[in-house]
Parts: sequence; structure tokens; C-alpha cells
Amino acid sequence: MSTTPILVTGAPIVVTGATGKLGQLIVQRLLALKQPVRVFTRRPDVARKLFGESVHVAAGDFGDRRSLDAALHGANRLLLLSPISARLVTDQIGVADAAVAAGVQRIVKISGSDWTIDPPGNSISGDAHAAVERHLASLPAVAVSLRPNAWMQVSLANTIRHAIANNTVAAAKIEAGVGYIDARDIADVAVHQLLAERVSGRTLNLTGPDIVTARQVAELLSTVLKRPVSAVDKAPLPASQDADFEHRAIAQFVRLIAAGRAATTTDVVRSLLGRPPRSVAAFISEHVAAEAALAES
Ligand SMILES: NC(=O)c1ccc[n+]([C@@H]2O[C@H](COP(=O)([O-])OP(=O)(O)OC[C@H]3O[C@@H](n4cnc5c(N)ncnc54)[C@H](OP(=O)(O)O)[C@@H]3O)[C@@H](O)[C@H]2O)c1
Repeated sequence: MSTTPILVTGAPIVVTGATGKLGQLIVQRLLALKQPVRVFTRRPDVARKLFGESVHVAAGDFGDRRSLDAALHGANRLLLLSPISARLVTDQIGVADAAVAAGVQRIVKISGSDWTIDPPGNSISGDAHAAVERHLASLPAVAVSLRPNAWMQVSLANTIRHAIANNTVAAAKIEAGVGYIDARDIADVAVHQLLAERVSGRTLNLTGPDIVTARQVAELLSTVLKRPVSAVDKAPLPASQDADFEHRAIAQFVRLIAAGRAATTTDVVRSLLGRPPRSVAAFISEHVAAEAALAES
């Protein structure tokens, strides 16, 4: 059973990245718990469509300090999320500094996967998240950085879609395992850390319950799809010299995963939420059913 505490300050919780994949899940959970939420977005119309009148929409851009000051005015807690980009450090430090200036007392940051951050120097994305984590540690606000392993809803969802179309699961190394985490579990932990009486550490390494290889993903898909799905090694393409930050970061993730760096699990989700994290097997069943329903509609 979930043990999410309920915060009763009445001050708004500001969520950046609220219209994105993970941010949406976090906002939905906060609203279900009747928390006052202010979403910061460049696209107020999209936020309205997603959340209706139940949230306060603060229009703005990370690069616009005045819009940040307005969004953070009177807020007590901040969920800090921004996409992988060359601007990640500047943007997130800008939001955190504006939050502290506005009197925000707690920051929950969505950081990079632990294996991209530690050891440093292997991932431009992990190094950027690490720089933000260091900055947060220097601020007077309490900060916790959640380091989720690879999300099922991103890489695994793509793998499933590809397997449904081609009956193959391609990976740089099919025997390399990944401790995939369901984004819904990340959202549950983020909400827990926003609302709990105190945070559970400076960094929390979040994973799913087990380590799964591409070969095992193919086996699970064969069972669910009731037809053979094979796992094939596919050498990763090197990122081109002029690739942007995000594509260079993704090329590094592929190499690190192939080297087995993402093959980790922790007990953090279970210990915080009082229930096990969602499994890859459950995600595959659910996702295949959803894709089938979509194809029929
Ligand atoms: N996928 C994984 O396996 C994984 C693993 C570990 C960590 N992460 C981390 O998760 C984060 C990405 O999360 P996500 O996939 O949920 O993000 P996403 O879907 O790409 O959404 C990005 C969000 O950022 C907002 N945004 C972008 N630029 C902005 C700007 N200039 N000003 C204001 N808002 C801006 C967007 O809002 P608007 O467009 O509405 O303004 C949107 O809500 C990254 O930091 C990544 O390192 C991902």
C-alpha cells in the first residue's frame, strides 16, 4: 500500500516540465491528492488541455527570469525537470536560484540515471545533471535529486513498438541488462518526496524490481504476442560530429547500457512507497494491449 503523505501548507507546488512525459504524471498525482499546483510552461494552451481548470498555469520560459519569479512567487516546493539539452545546467540553475529567491523551501529534482553521473566523464547528460546537483547542495533550500534508471515508457516502449512491427528486438548488446523503471513509479516517488515531512536523502537511485536483458524482453514479447520474437545485436551508429547535445547524449547512453552500466536495482521505490516497483513483464503486457487497442480504433 502506498504511504504518500499529505502536505497541508496550502502554498502552491510549482512543477516545471509539467506538460512532458513524466511531469504530466506528477501533476495528475498531486491533483488527485488535492494539492495546489502551479505549472510552468511555454505552452499554456497545452497545459489547460491536459489539466483543465484544476491547476494554475504560469506561462514562461526558463530563459526569462521575470516569468520564473512570477511563477515561483509564494510557492513552497518545486519539482525541477527540464529536457536533455545544452541548456540543462543554465536552465535548471536559473530555476533553482529563482525558487530560493522566492522562498521555496524544498526542491525535488529529476536528475539523470545514476550510471550516467557516477563515475563522471562518461555522459554529457550525466555530467550536466551532476553540475545541477552540486549547485542545489550549495543552496539554503532542502534538495533531493531523483536518479531514475532508464524509463520503460521511453526506450522499452520504442522496443515494443519495433517488435510488434518487425518481430525483432534490436540492441547494441542483447545480453546487457537494464534495471528499467516505470515512469509511474518515478512520479509516485517524486510526489512522496514533495509531500513528505522530510526528504529521504540528497540523491535517490530509482530502479525497477529486476534487471532484464534484450533477450529476455524478446522472450516476454514472444509470450504476450504469441509469435516468435528474436533478439538481435545491432551495432550502434556513432553520433555524427555535428549531432546536437541530445543525440550525442543518447549515443553515450547506448554505449553505457551495452557495457552493462544500467544493470542495477535498488530497494528505494519499495522502501519509500511500501510496495514493489512495477515490473517489465507487467509493462509489456499492458503496453502490447494498448498498442493493439490503438491499432483497432
Ligand atoms: N527517459 C529516460 O530514460 C530518463 C532517465 C533518467 C533521467 N531522465 C531525465 O528526464 C528529463 C526529461 O523528462 P521528460 O522526458 O518527461 O521530458 P519531456 O517529455 O521532453 O518534456 C520536457 C518538458 O520541459 C519543458 N520545457 C522545455 N524547454 C522549456 C523552456 N525553455 N522553458 C520552460 N519549459 C520548458 C516542456 O514544457 P513546454 O514545452 O510546455 O514549455 C516539457 O514540459 C531529462 O532531464 C532527462 O535527463 C530521463
